[in-house]
Amino acid sequence: MRGKFITFEGCEGSGKSTQLRLLGEYLTQRGVDFLMTREPGGSAIAEDIRKIILNPAYTEMCPECEALLYASARIQHLKEIVEPALAAGRLVVCDRYVDSSFAYQGEARGLGADFIAEINGYALEKYPPDLTVFLDISPKAAFERKHGADQNDRIEALGFEFHEKVYKGYKKLLPKFPRIVAVDCGGTKFETAEIIKNLLIDKAIIK
Ligand code: TYD
Repeated sequence: MRGKFITFEGCEGSGKSTQLRLLGEYLTQRGVDFLMTREPGGSAIAEDIRKIILNPAYTEMCPECEALLYASARIQHLKEIVEPALAAGRLVVCDRYVDSSFAYQGEARGLGADFIAEINGYALEKYPPDLTVFLDISPKAAFERKHGADQNDRIEALGFEFHEKVYKGYKKLLPKFPRIVAVDCGGTKFETAEIIKNLLIDKAIIK
């Protein structure tokens, strides 16, 4: 049987990395055959594209170039890594996917949802996730949690206003795509992890 494909989304500081780590530990414990991967990246070519996209020196990169680079890293990763894992019946858990492009490039960069949908047609049509977990925390709370935020890459270095737009972009996606479930992560990391585990069981992603 073909495997399931789930993705995780959220603003900077939403605790996504922690939740993915906790989920990985839980899936291992349960003996689930899964692949944990990420965007942009997850394969040698896509990781190289990631280095170009996130290079803090490339301040002149235009939004269209940025969106197209994310889309090209995505399609390579889908064909090279995700497809074989799904075909082998594995559960694929991906840290960010096309919804990041809608929120960051479509909304925050102002390219619009139509442009993002067009350049991501392959991903949207052939690989819609079975479930997308959106870690819902306001950028203000997330920034406070991160104590002022890391500014290590080109995207993280963008100001608070940009991240507010990203959050707004995610919120717009919720009524459009029922596959996206917003998880309130105002509680402790273990409470959030519990909500996510139950969601995966409810949605028959895991038994
Ligand atoms: P990463 O360090 O993995 O960030 P995070 O831990 O927050 O997931 O860097 C990925 C960055 O790329 C992140 O700032 C979000 C951004 N991004 C987009 O802008 N568009 C996209 O389509 C994707 C996949 C990521």
